[in-house]
Amino acid sequence: MSQAAYVIDELISAKAIAARVEALARDVQQAFQGTDKLIIVGLLRGSFVFIADLVRELDLPVEVDFLEASSYGDSMESSREVRILKDLRGEIGGRDVLLVEDIVDTGFTLAHVTELLKTRNPGRLETIALLDKPSRREVEVKATWTGFEIPDEFVVGYGIDFAQRNRNLPFIGKVRFVAAGDGDGS
Ligand code: IMP
Ligand code: MG
Repeated sequence: MSQAAYVIDELISAKAIAARVEALARDVQQAFQGTDKLIIVGLLRGSFVFIADLVRELDLPVEVDFLEASSYGDSMESSREVRILKDLRGEIGGRDVLLVEDIVDTGFTLAHVTELLKTRNPGRLETIALLDKPSRREVEVKATWTGFEIPDEFVVGYGIDFAQRNRNLPFIGKVRFVAAGDGDGS
């Protein structure tokens, strides 16, 4: 089945993202200064670009691991039921952990994954989200660090997808549906 036609309007430029990621990395660096090993846990798949940029701004001993949780499938609505599709490869007991998320929306994913990681007794657990849509929150949760608070818009780019597409855009854009044939004729 084909998807409804949509255009993407830029919301946050690549330059603005780069500046913000640099500032976030400084905060993370300061918070974890002196750690012997920081384990960066990326939530697949939306965080992969953010992590790639973030780790390259960190001057700390880091390890990177990934975890995949189900959320939206191909729809624009949260399923509200979070399942772990792919678990971490390594142990986090006693270690310093930074959980990296692309967007906090209803909050179900961050809340669920944070609780799961806590049961493994990390020495320290902090969270960082590139984007936050506070107006959409259904579960009370907030990342330690947030890149940008955004309005209730469906966004794509910089790793974030709509039905697996548009992850490769260097900026964050919002999806706007248009009548078929009324595309980006500019
Ligand atoms: P939550 O569990 O509702 O907080 O959803 C978090 C996950 O939903 C994020 O990690 C994203 O993968 C996905 N998500 C939330 N909002 C958007 C969006 O605007 N565009 C694409 N994916 C989104
Ligand atoms: Mg996600």
